[in-house]
Amino acid sequence: MTKASPDVISRAGELRDTITEHNYQYYVLDDPRVPDAEYDRLFRELQDLEAQYPDIVTPDTPTRRVGASVETTFEEVVHRIPMLSLDNAFSDEELRDFDRRVKDRLKASDDIEYVCEPKLDGLAVSLHYESGVLTRAATRGDGYTGEDITANIRTIPSVPLRLRGDNVPELVEVRGEVYMPREGFEALNRRLADKGEKAFVNPRNAAAGSLRQKKPTVTARRPLELCAYSVALEDESRLPATHWEGLQQVSAWGFRINPEMRRATGAKDCLQAYNELMDKRASLPYEIDGIVFKVNSLALQQQLGFVSRAPRWAIAQKFPAQEELTVIEDVEFQVGRTGAITPVARLKPVFVGGVTVSNATLHNMDEIQRLGVRIGDTVFVRRAGDVIPQVVKVVAERRPDNAREVQLPTPAPYASPILCRSRVKWWPAVLAGCSARHSARRPSGTMPPARHWT
Ligand code: IVH
Repeated sequence: MTKASPDVISRAGELRDTITEHNYQYYVLDDPRVPDAEYDRLFRELQDLEAQYPDIVTPDTPTRRVGASVETTFEEVVHRIPMLSLDNAFSDEELRDFDRRVKDRLKASDDIEYVCEPKLDGLAVSLHYESGVLTRAATRGDGYTGEDITANIRTIPSVPLRLRGDNVPELVEVRGEVYMPREGFEALNRRLADKGEKAFVNPRNAAAGSLRQKKPTVTARRPLELCAYSVALEDESRLPATHWEGLQQVSAWGFRINPEMRRATGAKDCLQAYNELMDKRASLPYEIDGIVFKVNSLALQQQLGFVSRAPRWAIAQKFPAQEELTVIEDVEFQVGRTGAITPVARLKPVFVGGVTVSNATLHNMDEIQRLGVRIGDTVFVRRAGDVIPQVVKVVAERRPDNAREVQLPTPAPYASPILCRSRVKWWPAVLAGCSARHSARRPSGTMPPARHWT
């Protein structure tokens, strides 16, 4: 093996720094500084150098987010500091009660300052950095022991492999949420459906399924992101005075923190933050299921302490659920202007995603088959953001004896075209070759009226 010259070593170091910087601009700040083609050239140059001189490879090199033959071990990991959960508030009154309890316990007469953070709907992870380098990532597990998922976490581009800046401690633990943004989730589900594989019910399941992969190469193809929300240091004297400043420090180390985070003083201000975030909810590019309020002062947090498995200094106020159970009372077929036919589930009305829903799309016949839907089934209905309500899962155990298969409408004598495959168009009958399972005929008589989602 040829030994790398000082010039090669220095060029590789330069490339590593430049690529890491471009990654940070792109994945953490959402603000790319170079065109993709330029980035690709730099990346290729580093890859070539490292292939030629394997001894110059460093643990934090951006080319090795996916190791050659590394598998995720899922070995048991004991959390140095337990990963607790949060108590929930389901109403404004419960939030006011929480604030009152905090004030009483602290014997405070002034209003308390809180940090308000979107409650991302993903999975909590713990990341250890030693001398600034990512050395271990773990799931929350039961809060006391989790699983080692380092190889999978390394594939997430917004996870720094090395902390930025000079103020890097010997040992630090950063915690945050791994989640899948809506767009990536929908693209992933389309990809899975095209391959005839089972789609994920929601972005949270998709994120969990992606982290559970044994092969990091699979995780690497999943559009995951990490948002940091807390920091713990071995040397606590180095911690700033407030949670807010801790977040700024984490951001300076190169993590993505949520741009919707803000501070609020007193319960009234917190409730306003809740309403403002609720108004934004549907337009955010990721799913949130509530807002978390955390006492900002770390000294006050310490005074308040914990009760059972949750801190007394924080609470999550929940938003209306985006998934609920209901029953499919019937399935009808809607014909769009282009002739595309969409099966629509008529539902027992259910309050989901902030509105009452009585119809949900079943997309197409393939989808009905994939889900295994029958009339009478109890199903998960999901309404997220502005997306039309969808049936995403059947609860097999709740199927009644009289559940009926979904029948396609009977054909019209005049047209007799064959409905082919999923994106059902009116193909002429000569277009045979599509399987009988997927074929159908045009309903007789008038088309069912288009209905609005309620
Ligand atoms: S703080 C002791 N902050 O919610 C503090 N959690 O119900 C514990 N989560 O397991 C966590 N966004 O997965 C915190 N901004 C946020 C969060 C957040 C989402 C999740 C996290 C945690 C669960 C607790």
